[in-house]
Amino acid sequence: MSQRSDRSSAGLRAALVRRKPVDVLLAEGGHGEGGTLRRTLGLSQLTMLSIGATLGSGIFVVLGEAVPVAGPAVVLSFVLAGITALFSALSYAELAGMIPLSGSSYTYAYATLGELVAWVCGWCLVLEYGVSVASVAVGWGQYINELLDLTLGVTIPAALSSPPGDGGIVNLPAIVIVLLAMVLLLAGARESARANAIMVVVKVATLLLFCFIAFSAVEAGNFSPFLPLGLAGMSAGAAKLFFSYIGFDAASTAGEEAKNPQRDLPRAILLSLGIVTLLYCLVALAAVGALNWTGFEGSEAALSHVITTVLGNKLWAALLAAGALVAISSVVLTVLYGQTRILFAMSRDGLVPKALSKVDARTGSPRINTLVVSGFVAVLAAFVPLGNLADATSIGTLFAFGLVNVAVLVLRRSRPEMPRTFRVPLAPVTPVLGVLCCAYMMFSLDVATWLTFAGWMLFGLVLYFAYGMRRSKLARS
Ligand code: ALA
Repeated sequence: MSQRSDRSSAGLRAALVRRKPVDVLLAEGGHGEGGTLRRTLGLSQLTMLSIGATLGSGIFVVLGEAVPVAGPAVVLSFVLAGITALFSALSYAELAGMIPLSGSSYTYAYATLGELVAWVCGWCLVLEYGVSVASVAVGWGQYINELLDLTLGVTIPAALSSPPGDGGIVNLPAIVIVLLAMVLLLAGARESARANAIMVVVKVATLLLFCFIAFSAVEAGNFSPFLPLGLAGMSAGAAKLFFSYIGFDAASTAGEEAKNPQRDLPRAILLSLGIVTLLYCLVALAAVGALNWTGFEGSEAALSHVITTVLGNKLWAALLAAGALVAISSVVLTVLYGQTRILFAMSRDGLVPKALSKVDARTGSPRINTLVVSGFVAVLAAFVPLGNLADATSIGTLFAFGLVNVAVLVLRRSRPEMPRTFRVPLAPVTPVLGVLCCAYMMFSLDVATWLTFAGWMLFGLVLYFAYGMRRSKLARS
């Protein structure tokens, strides 16, 4: 009896730590059930994919919540959050160049830390991608109302623009934007990338327009005192603003659709982070220079609020609201794309149902996967008040980023000979700093967020033990 239980606990331990060797992973790259993904994306599309997933509600909405916490030093909050993101971006760049597959950090964890950690990482990515895209779709509805109000003086009634529990019945705008993104994704990766590129150009132009208008209204007095709430305020602002950097890793989910992934993925990740950081700092400088930091309290659409307050001009504010709408649409499209590709990789490994890795022969896209993910996200956004679950996206993302830094350290020891198209400079110091920064940011988040995260993880572990562990391809080989 005791021998049998010893054997089964040894079997369980082996199941939890089983790893998928990098070479096996690479050999499976591109292949799904019944077809392969198509390699159609070049460097500029991959960079646009990451910018598309990153620039969105963070700068248009969350900035308004960070300024009252940090004061004019919000500019430094952006730099601090950007540095945290940079450590992890360097690690992503190294691994994406080495293991250019659709599963992103889930795949890196599978190769280095074992199946259980990989599952946990994949489950965190569902928070980073699936849940966050639902909350971003809700933000899209708020901007539609803002635009309707500014141009026509009407708004969609709460019953049709909020979920039950938030004073409504259904959030129709959120369903609309998710379904629009779904249609594009079903058409194929190349078509989605083209639409995304246009939207990225519009959102960057909108932010530059904002800088242009706001810089002409800057008053030096608005910068002093620069740190009204001290260094603590500045770092609390950085923790809030970390959300605005989430998404730079999106290119790493396109490894199996990139034309030259080894060369282009590291470049796309680092280039997008550089462009986004520069834009964020410029916009923040212009915003707090034009409007005194005390004037941001309670502003939902921060950038439109600055323009209306300083210039009293509704036309510019309406233009900004329209730009924000386009910006958020491209986040929905690209983040939804990322989620489908991560589940594609998990399905190929047997951890989620096989249908999710079926590829449509005509379009080269994972059709069933796209329909299932979009349906799930649309229902979540339309009927569930996301509240704390949306806050938990940052903690889940930070956890996944931390694991990517650890994976770099592990592979440097276990596979030093493997070719790397990009190497993290000053390793192991940089990845270790990456882990520490992620841990620091995680501990800056409040207890309610941690509790929600713990509940989410528990649910994920139940799913793994009930399904993934038994169906895993490694268990059958
Ligand atoms: N970084 C993305 C945004 O700000 C999630 O919308």
